Amino acid sequence: MCGIVGAIGLGNCSPMLLDSLKRLEYRGYDSSGIVTSDAGEFELRRSVGKIKNLEETVNEKPLSGSIGLGHTRWATHGGVSERNAHPHIAADRVAIVHNGIIENYESIKAKLHAKGYNILSDTDSEVIAHLFVEAFEAGLTPSEATRRVTSEIDGAYAFAAISKDFPNLIIAARNSSPLAIGLGDTGSFIGSDAIALAPVTRRVIYLKDLDYAIVRADAVQVFRPDGSETKREPVIVSASLALINKGGYRHFMEKEIYEQPDSIANTIRAFSGVNGKIALGVSSRTLGNINGIVMLAAGTSYFASLVARYWIERIAKIPVSCELASEFHYREPVTSGINTALAISQSGESLDTLKAINFAAERNLSTIALVNVLDSSIARDSDFVLETKAGPEIGVASTKAFTAQLTVLITLAVAIAEAKNELHELQVKKTLGQIKLLPGLVAKTLDAFESIKPVAGELKSVQSVLFLGRGPLFPIALEGALKLKELSYIHAEGFAAGEMKHGPIALIEEKLPVIGLLANDNLIGKVISNLKEANSRGGTIILIADEKVANSIDFASYVITVPASDPVLAPILFSVPVQILAYLTALDKGTDVDQPRNLAKSVTVE
Ligand code: G6P
Repeated sequence: MCGIVGAIGLGNCSPMLLDSLKRLEYRGYDSSGIVTSDAGEFELRRSVGKIKNLEETVNEKPLSGSIGLGHTRWATHGGVSERNAHPHIAADRVAIVHNGIIENYESIKAKLHAKGYNILSDTDSEVIAHLFVEAFEAGLTPSEATRRVTSEIDGAYAFAAISKDFPNLIIAARNSSPLAIGLGDTGSFIGSDAIALAPVTRRVIYLKDLDYAIVRADAVQVFRPDGSETKREPVIVSASLALINKGGYRHFMEKEIYEQPDSIANTIRAFSGVNGKIALGVSSRTLGNINGIVMLAAGTSYFASLVARYWIERIAKIPVSCELASEFHYREPVTSGINTALAISQSGESLDTLKAINFAAERNLSTIALVNVLDSSIARDSDFVLETKAGPEIGVASTKAFTAQLTVLITLAVAIAEAKNELHELQVKKTLGQIKLLPGLVAKTLDAFESIKPVAGELKSVQSVLFLGRGPLFPIALEGALKLKELSYIHAEGFAAGEMKHGPIALIEEKLPVIGLLANDNLIGKVISNLKEANSRGGTIILIADEKVANSIDFASYVITVPASDPVLAPILFSVPVQILAYLTALDKGTDVDQPRNLAKSVTVE
């Protein structure tokens, strides 16, 4: 992953680079650094840990210079250390920042070593800087040098380079990893996304795969790999400047949990057409032609796809398969008989998901992106785009984007069913009526904060937790377990409650917390039996239940209720208490809620 930024043409670029890096911190926070070039000399500051450490370093030893690069790192190759932090400087001549993985770096490193190049870090990235030195040594121009360097490296990259040989320009290039170039009044900028550039400009050029660019303060030239110049039209982006603001909450995650009634309401509004009809922006003909969907996603977004499978198969009666994006195309799947792929991604940048949807397009599937970031790579590469209106999500663990995804997916299920005449008008109206109740019901669900506090107090000192659910609440059990492990580092597993007896029940021992999700649906009796089985073997039952059926079991040690609802809404409502539980447990444990260890929000490596 990692975030990269660059600036040329500002008086002193380091404050802007620092600010932009803070906006990219969601991409990684193992270390960060800035290099500037002032009167032909490089000045480098790097720090391990979060950007605030780099800020302190820069405050102690300020940087000057109107051209510079910055980087925030999510370590892949080479441990977390100042030596491995970017920027990397080669021969005091070229400085680079890189996002991605150079897969053939070891062979390049060996060649460079043999030629006497002095490689200082354990990273894959540093070779890029040395390759540029070699190219400039051979007398190549910046454009020729970039062509040579990019032809030598394999893997995913977005990189930027500055050189003492050409002090008035930044070189930028991308393959698979995203890169935006900002056009300002007096300068030009580079960023992994447009949000990083929001304080300085909203005019942005998105490089396409394999493009490279020569960026000057007053001009940007974009080239294709064969060296031919190409035109990329700037777009005006709507990145929010108010982004880095917790709005009075302790954490972004807490704020984002509380924002869910609004983010769901905004999402519903965006898909409501005239006369209460669904207006997804995909024609009824296109929806009616869908004969099957393969859903592609990672992490929490993958769990959204698992919920959607229940809805779409049940309501629209078409087959759905859910694929972990990182596994999909490497499996060489058979896609005949299914004509549509749906990529689900909050960021729209997860490289696994991007590659999977591109693979689906190569197989001639029609592609739909469900994203929270409209200007994202996955959205740009897809035939149709459905946008969640969750607003920028900063907490690394996804909350409001997940429930907004679910809101779109249930609406999509109804829209496909309507287009295929699987639901008659009254049923469509009824289900849409239920969906419209969501903002109010989710607002009520937030009241559970108080009843969850003692449960979090209990969980903070345990080693392991199980989440059990059935039907559409099985994916929510998986999501609950993921949230808890991401945030509090407690080992947690989600299981389909009916599957326990086939093995996982062996894990149950005295006082193991077992969190059971109980909706008021056709599976209630079976879930109760499964929880009883866990309780008889010593498990401490923590029940999260629809308030109408919360009294159905008398053996739970804790009961958390969600408002009574039509069972079709249960996955969305039950998402909220599992988020709160993970949040409060992390708070009790004192872990870093918004930036849990080892994670990053947008994962642009494979
Ligand atoms: C990372 C994040 C997860 C997220 C996953 C997919 O692993 O830490 O929270 O669910 O990426 O991200 P996406 O942006 O594609 O939904």
